[in-house]
Amino acid sequence: MNKPLIKPAHASRNQPDKPFTDADYSLQTLLGGMSVEKFLADHWHKKPLLIRQALPGFGNWLNRESLTELACQDNSEGRLVQFKRGKCLLEYGPFDPETLRTLPKRDWSLLVSGVNHLLPEADWLLHRFDFIPAARLDDLMVSFAPPGGGVGPHFDSYDVFLIQGQGRRRWEISTQDDLTVVDGAPLRILQNFRVDESWELDPGDMLYLPPQLAHNGVALTDCMTWSVGFRAPKAEEIVGQFLTYLQDKLELPGMYSDPDLKQQKHVAEIPAAMLDWAEKTIKAAARWNKSDIADFLGRYLSEPKPHVYFDPPYRPKSLTAFTKAVQKTGLALDARSQMLFRGEAFFLNGERVEASTVMQPTLKTLADKRFLLPGECGQEQGQEMLALLYLWYQAGFLFPAG
Ligand code: SIN
Ligand code: CO
Repeated sequence: MNKPLIKPAHASRNQPDKPFTDADYSLQTLLGGMSVEKFLADHWHKKPLLIRQALPGFGNWLNRESLTELACQDNSEGRLVQFKRGKCLLEYGPFDPETLRTLPKRDWSLLVSGVNHLLPEADWLLHRFDFIPAARLDDLMVSFAPPGGGVGPHFDSYDVFLIQGQGRRRWEISTQDDLTVVDGAPLRILQNFRVDESWELDPGDMLYLPPQLAHNGVALTDCMTWSVGFRAPKAEEIVGQFLTYLQDKLELPGMYSDPDLKQQKHVAEIPAAMLDWAEKTIKAAARWNKSDIADFLGRYLSEPKPHVYFDPPYRPKSLTAFTKAVQKTGLALDARSQMLFRGEAFFLNGERVEASTVMQPTLKTLADKRFLLPGECGQEQGQEMLALLYLWYQAGFLFPAG
C-alpha cells in the first residue's frame, strides 16, 4: 500500500488485473478482524465502530497539492469550507489554483467528491467495500484540512467509512437528539454539539458512522480524510421519481367527452360525470406491479449523476479488433459506470438490457466484479454477447483492459 504519490489520472484505465494485489489489503484487516456478518449485525446503520489500522500503510495516494489539482479540474466536484470569525463560508469548485494556494494556515477544508471517478486507486478503495450492495454505494470523497480545519459539527443521512489518510484528525461523536442547525449557515452545522466520545485517528485508521449520528472531525495536523459514503434513497425522492417514471411511460389515448350533457344548477360546479371519468381513468392508468418497480429502481439507481458524462473511444476499434482485444486482455467497466441487476433484468447507466439466459451469468459477473477475464468475454460467449459488449464499448461504458 505504500505507493508513491500519484498524479491524478482518469480512472478509465481501471484494469481487471488491478495495480494492487490482495496482499495490500484484506477484508479481515479492514474490519479489524470482525466478520462481515458481525459488522452488519452489530454496527451497520446502527452504531459507530473505530478500526485501528484498517488499512495499514495507507495515506500517501493524495496530498494537498494533488487534491488541489483535482479540485481545479472542470470535471470535479469540489467544495471549500472556511471558518472566519466564527462564520462559515462555502464555495464550490472548480477552483482557480491561486485561490487554493493562498488560503490561511488554519480552519478550512477542501473536499472533493467522486474521487473514485478521477483516480483509479480511489475506485479500487471504494470497491473494497463491496460487502455492501452496490445499490447503496454513493461515492468516495477526499478532503484536506490544515490544523483546526473541518466542516463543523453536523450529521449526515449517509452511512460512511472515514479513513484517515495523511496526518491526524480528532473525531468527536454525540448521540444527542437535538439536531437543530445554525440558522442561515451555508452548511447544516449543529447549533449545540455535546461531545460524548472522541478518538484521534492516524493514517490507516478508519471510523464507521451510521446516518443521523452527530459528529465533528477536526484536523490536528495537515490531514486528509477519505470518506466512502453509502446513500439510502429517501421515501419522498423514491415516490416522486417513480411518479415521473410512470408519467414518462404513459400512453393514454382519448379524452373526456360529454355527449349527454345536461344543464347544471351551478355553472361553477365540477360536473359529477367529469369527476367519475377522471377517477376511472387515473385508477386504470396508475397501476403497477413489482416488476415495474424493479425496472424503475434499476434504471433510477444506475443512472449516473447529472455531471457525469461518458467519453466514447476517440478512435473506436472495429468489432473484430475489439473482440481480439478483449479475448487477449479481458475488459473492465469504466469507473463511472453503474451496473446493477435484479432477476433477469440488467441495468447499466440508467438503461435496461434484455439478456438471454445464456448471457446472464457473464453479465452477473461483470456487474459484480466490474471486469471480465479474457476467457469470460470471447467468442465462446457468443455473438450476441460480443455485440452487446461492443455497443457498451462504443458508448464509453467499458473498454478492453490493458
Ligand atoms: C471530511 O471532513 O473529510 C468529512 C466530513 C464529514 O464529516 O462528513
Ligand atoms: Co459527516
